[in-house]
Amino acid sequence: MIAPSILAADFARLAEAAQSVKDADWLHVDVMDGHFVPNLTIGLPVVKAILNSTAIPVDCHLMIEDPDRWAVGYAEAGAYNVTVHAEAAADPVKLANDLRAAGAKAGLSVKPGTPFEPYVELLRHYDTLLVMSVEPGFGGQEFMPEVLDKVRRARRLVDSGELRVVVEIDGGINADTIEQAAEAGVDCFVAGSAVYGANDPGRAIEALRDRARR
Ligand code: DX5
Ligand code: ZN
Repeated sequence: MIAPSILAADFARLAEAAQSVKDADWLHVDVMDGHFVPNLTIGLPVVKAILNSTAIPVDCHLMIEDPDRWAVGYAEAGAYNVTVHAEAAADPVKLANDLRAAGAKAGLSVKPGTPFEPYVELLRHYDTLLVMSVEPGFGGQEFMPEVLDKVRRARRLVDSGELRVVVEIDGGINADTIEQAAEAGVDCFVAGSAVYGANDPGRAIEALRDRARR
């Protein structure tokens, strides 16, 4: 699956940006609060406007403090998947249950330096594991290949049936890096600059899919 990240699009034309990637599997929306990460993007009112402008399932990536308080609002608004950071969630099991009760898939994300193993038990309550392949906060950064081992470890647990999550990767994914990530066992690839930096975002998605399948 390919999830274009709207962070790399023109924020004055978000509806057009959503419509230019009709073939996307998920539309990835980065919510940053200026505290959990040193950058500030958009919040619930703008995410609601995006939800109203597209039929693509919206994948909200919340890079915020206190997701226990804020995340459910995104699920109630109609996001398909709502991902919170393991480093920020106070009660991740309750949070996952609340997200699911509000009709969304629940995602848990780990920064490049955070292993997922301490969270394996509570990942049984989650649908998505988002492995960050850059330090969260900004688009256009370089892919960190050292996270691929974490992806392989997660893949093994999924394949053995111990975990049931979609393995998603986020940061620095482009036509070169997507092959390594696919080989390591990623199911869903977030791509910001590689999609919205291209002249034709729709074709960029196709090209990424081709490379991931090789
Ligand atoms: C970074 C965000 C990413 C970002 C990816 O903190 O979570 O989703 O938009 O952008 P690229 O693909 O340009 O690295
Ligand atoms: Zn993201």
